[in-house]
Amino acid sequence: MADKKARLMVDGLDEAIELPVYSGTEGPDVIDVRPLTGQGLFTYDPGFVSTAACESKITYIDGANGVLLHGGYPIEQLAEQSDYLEVCYLLLNGDLPTAEEKEKFVNTVSRHTMVHEQMSHFFNGFRRDAHPMAIMVACVGALSAFYHDSLDINDAYHREVCAYRLIAKMPTLAAMCYKYSIGQPFMYPRNELAYADNFLHMMFGTPCEEYRPNPVLAKAMDRIFLLHADHEQNASTSTVRLAGSSGANPFACIASGIAALWGPAHGGANEAVLTMLEEIGHEDNIPEFIEKAKDPNDPFRLMGFGHRVYRNFDPRAKVMKKTCDEVLTELGVADEPLLKIAKRLEQIALEDEYFVKRKLYPNVDFYSGIILKAIGIPTNMFTVIFALSRTIGWISHWSEFHSSPNKIGRPRQLYTGPSKRDIK
Ligand code: SDX
Repeated sequence: MADKKARLMVDGLDEAIELPVYSGTEGPDVIDVRPLTGQGLFTYDPGFVSTAACESKITYIDGANGVLLHGGYPIEQLAEQSDYLEVCYLLLNGDLPTAEEKEKFVNTVSRHTMVHEQMSHFFNGFRRDAHPMAIMVACVGALSAFYHDSLDINDAYHREVCAYRLIAKMPTLAAMCYKYSIGQPFMYPRNELAYADNFLHMMFGTPCEEYRPNPVLAKAMDRIFLLHADHEQNASTSTVRLAGSSGANPFACIASGIAALWGPAHGGANEAVLTMLEEIGHEDNIPEFIEKAKDPNDPFRLMGFGHRVYRNFDPRAKVMKKTCDEVLTELGVADEPLLKIAKRLEQIALEDEYFVKRKLYPNVDFYSGIILKAIGIPTNMFTVIFALSRTIGWISHWSEFHSSPNKIGRPRQLYTGPSKRDIK
């Protein structure tokens, strides 16, 4: 219900156009611009940087103050006191689970971790050096072929089962991508293992011997999953919502999210950060790359820096940096050269006027890659890990979209092409 009004005066119109203004529980008010269409007007907002595309209760970001809340809980508290599956429950249900609810949720997820045995044949169609994100887009989309007919998107229970299947099967498919690339047999999930431990088991275990995940690395893996779980209406989540608005099945929608996430400006940045740090190679080379990043004629950007919303530190980056120190200390590689380059790069960038003026701070991707590399995960798997983590965010927003009356999304445009003309 609108509690305020905006009045828009437009040259050529006799009267101001009255537009409802709505207030949320947090964040900026929104102006409902739908009446403009009746006046023959559209709004113009390339990249939707000033557009609230939907109403949502899942996640709130305050970019100016570096705040990220899931269901009202600050990400720093969730990272310290919760775990990934608890946050999955929170994003899906709006509150953290009781001990009983958590046990039921974890047990249900554990029993959906296997994929149909036929899925393993998809991998044989790919070269061993295929980028795992290409395989993930294909395989997650292909899940539609196995579950498409058992899903009424308007049935809340069907949507819940679908969420379980996706949360549970993403680690299995991700690990299969890695195993396929190194020519090792796929490892089946183990129901007695915790979520992150199970993922490390499927990644690094072999049929030849018992694999015992390092608890520090498993905890770090779980925290990486947790920190990437959801982030409001980012590019990939908006893609999933738009795909979902056509009534497409959730597996196809999640596959579209994976595709959108792959870009280096978005989820592909964690892989790009490592490539950049390896290209820099030594602290002495940092000034050259800082200059390249500042050169408007050079497409190079400092990967892992900047954010469309955060004009302050990304709160996830702070937690990730602390986790990075813990992991590298545990592994006895605290003086890892790439970490030294990263910390020096961060220090220089945060003092350089170009970055300070543009409020370009390290984002979630800046340190995650160093942790993943230390755990032994190859660089081309980094965005797969991001996709695995973000699946809960995508499916929560997809489910929220379908839990209330909705319409197919259909943005318009400012047309500047040729007016009507006849073929001569
Ligand atoms: C993620 O939306 C989300 O929530 C995403 C995400 C999530 O959880 O879903 O948080 C995950 O995608 C994090 C971002 C990961 N991407 C990177 O680290 C890639 C490097 N960053 C840039 O590509 C960029 O900062 C973006 C894409 C992240 C944000 O772009 P903006 O806000 O549109 O910034 P901009 O293009 O308007 O740039 C503003 C100015 C420009 O300079 P001027 O034209 O003012 O002279 O800042 C400059 C840009 O050239 N700039 C950078 C820079 N980022 C912006 N210059 C050098 N290095 C950078 N990284």
